[in-house]
Amino acid sequence: MVYQELIAQAVKAKESAYAPYSNFRVGAALLTESGKIYTGCNVENASFPAGNCAERTAVFKAVSEGEREFKAIVVNGDTGRYLPPCGICRQVLAEFCDPDAFQVILAKDQSDYRVMTLGELLPEAFRPENLNQEKDKK
Ligand code: THU
Repeated sequence: MVYQELIAQAVKAKESAYAPYSNFRVGAALLTESGKIYTGCNVENASFPAGNCAERTAVFKAVSEGEREFKAIVVNGDTGRYLPPCGICRQVLAEFCDPDAFQVILAKDQSDYRVMTLGELLPEAFRPENLNQEKDKK
């Protein structure tokens, strides 16, 4: 798959980041199975824990529009390094995405990116089916 469009949209979404406390802007672009793209940026808050990461913004936008099936997400931040999603964002992605198929693209820019699966980033995730384990035993 060619990620150029997805990367471009993540870089663009970063421009909307509201990050006056960290001064660290992040953009994300989430691709649905149907081919739509939902973007997100980080949105910080004076009460620091109330802030939201770019990846979760994108996922919540998409889910709130009725989407639940996702193929890939690009993450692009103000850093010279590949920017991996934080643990909370990995957990949110694990709710909806196939660990072996969903691709997380850590993009420095259009030509320099690393592709990982969600399962590589969050092995043995606590997924919805884990909630049913006790019931399954009975
Ligand atoms: N942040 C993201 O938006 N995504 C990540 O993958 C890592 C961190 C945000 C949260 C906070 O607004 C800022 O970056 C610094 O942690």
